[in-house]
Amino acid sequence: MKAFESLNVEIKEGIYWLTLNRPEARNALDAKMLEEIDTALVEAEADEDVRVIIIQGAGGKSFAAGADIKQLNTRKPLEALIPGMQGLYQKLENSKKVTIAAVNGYALGGGCELALACDIRIATNKAKLGLPELNLGIIPGAGGTQRLARIVGKGRALDMILTGKIIDGEEAERIGLVTYFVSEDELTSKVESIAGDILKKGPVAIQLAKFAVHKGYDIDEGTAMWIEKLSQAVAFGTEDKDEGTKAFIEKRKAEFKNR
Ligand code: HXC
Repeated sequence: MKAFESLNVEIKEGIYWLTLNRPEARNALDAKMLEEIDTALVEAEADEDVRVIIIQGAGGKSFAAGADIKQLNTRKPLEALIPGMQGLYQKLENSKKVTIAAVNGYALGGGCELALACDIRIATNKAKLGLPELNLGIIPGAGGTQRLARIVGKGRALDMILTGKIIDGEEAERIGLVTYFVSEDELTSKVESIAGDILKKGPVAIQLAKFAVHKGYDIDEGTAMWIEKLSQAVAFGTEDKDEGTKAFIEKRKAEFKNR
């Protein structure tokens, strides 16, 4: 496992815990941290034992306060065209592992966009989420204009983006921005319990289901149905499908092998 400057990573029982660790800057995502997240994702992706990636923030005050504003201050227009944060979050969304954002404290701008790129989001009673980029004269540029609208609907996304309002975890759950709202004390046990459910499933089926939902979401329904059908055909060719169906018939737990 690699050693990082701005991240803590730990692999435990199939879970890759990725902790953003710049609490003195509210875990603002500077170039170094983004590069390290990229490296960590490659590491997690390559590890067959890792099935779930949980992203959280160190320090208790912040998940991530967004892109590093000091670095944004000197960024030129053409530098904003590089894949950068948006490209990194695309990689995260395309990961074959299940990704969970555990949001405690601030998830603002690029920090909120990081959570939006995860498959599952959980917020605590201390969470504060928003896309305040317009306050800085820029727009959400790491998928926020697209993912937020797809997740909470265009009207709510426009309201949040145009006013820059910050909402709490309870409101985030009410509008569907996060799936679960828990107290700060319950956060770790909740993410572990969700990860535990995922770990019981066959990894190939997880990957195919994730692919079908993400890739099918943005295209016409007929083509999306074919994505589902073809993904299902791949699942039917796996030993895990034989094992999963057999285990049901034999009234025992399935032992999936990832093949
Ligand atoms: C750089 C940041 C930072 C950020 C906080 N800090 N957020 N530094 N970039 N995004 C630093 C502060 O400068 C300060 O450093 C230290 O962290 C503590 O911050 P405070 O403001 O004193 O803390 P607090 O009062 O608790 O307020 C926390 C906060 C506030 C609400 C999160 O810091 C804040 O509003 N931050 C900016 C949030 C934001 O606008 N995010 C969107 C960024 S744009 P010092 O050295 O003074 O102690 C974005 C674009 C993405 O994300 C797309 C790009 C492609």
